[in-house]
Amino acid sequence: MCSQLWLLADRKILEDYPQMQILEALKQRCKEQELDFSLVLMDQIALTVIDGKLGLQINQKIVTAYPQVILVRVPTPTVQSDSDITVLRHLEKLGCRLINRPQAILNCINKFWTFQELAGQGIPLPDTFSYGGHDEFAKMINAAEPLGYPVVVKNTRGHQGKAVFLARDKHHLLDISHLVRHDTPYLFQKYVTESHGKDIRVVIVGGRVVGSMLRCSTDGRIQSNCCLGKCFWTFGEYNPLFTCQCLVSDLNQ
Ligand SMILES: Nc1ncnc2c1ncn2[C@@H]1O[C@H](COP(=O)(O)OP(=O)(O)O)[C@@H](O)[C@H]1O
Ligand SMILES: [Mg+2]
Repeated sequence: MCSQLWLLADRKILEDYPQMQILEALKQRCKEQELDFSLVLMDQIALTVIDGKLGLQINQKIVTAYPQVILVRVPTPTVQSDSDITVLRHLEKLGCRLINRPQAILNCINKFWTFQELAGQGIPLPDTFSYGGHDEFAKMINAAEPLGYPVVVKNTRGHQGKAVFLARDKHHLLDISHLVRHDTPYLFQKYVTESHGKDIRVVIVGGRVVGSMLRCSTDGRIQSNCCLGKCFWTFGEYNPLFTCQCLVSDLNQ
């Protein structure tokens, strides 16, 4: 049973209209379920270790009662392991249940880390190659020959479809190699025809699918990301308000 719930968010995320809708829906649902709800921002938090005990301050006030559950909304593309993840680890060690857990967030910040996790769970994946060391992109062009052409190339830290390319052949790959930034590794992935310009987002609460969304590109491009401005989406059951209801009900079971 949960009696106190926090939404822990990055200040930037609150400038976003859908996030504000989620915040309002959560507040409303918590009121109905008589849960004590607070919005806490990452930059209000100070972490302490005093006399060997972990503690927390919010806006310089010592926190004496920790929530049972904390919903975390930090933007995965910019999440910082030495600040954001440190805060999340601290809260977990103080006994709070985090949704999502810091390890789950870390598993998603690098595409190849995600593949390592999914492969470990026996989930079918397109064949994917990547590399160690710096700037090994060109070497990988030969090593990734078994994937055939066209081949998909992605920056392991890319997001919003901005660093996903479809290379027609080896010459095209060499051209891409000169154009891209090499400060983070790339992965080379088998092209999946059925996924060209398509993406399915599935929302799961407590092991149950509560919503799904199919996004499709409208200009023939491989990326289906809405932020690129050319996609349509069809809602299945997906509704952020419904998701909040499921979440709060689930926590209260
Ligand atoms: N292996 C693939 N084969 C075909 N299309 C793909 C493949 N990988 C990605 N795509 C397309 O590119 C889009 C963006 O890829 P994704 O890996 O989700 O990167 P991002 O994190 O930038 O969204 C996907 O939604 C899909 O439309
Ligand atoms: Mg994507």
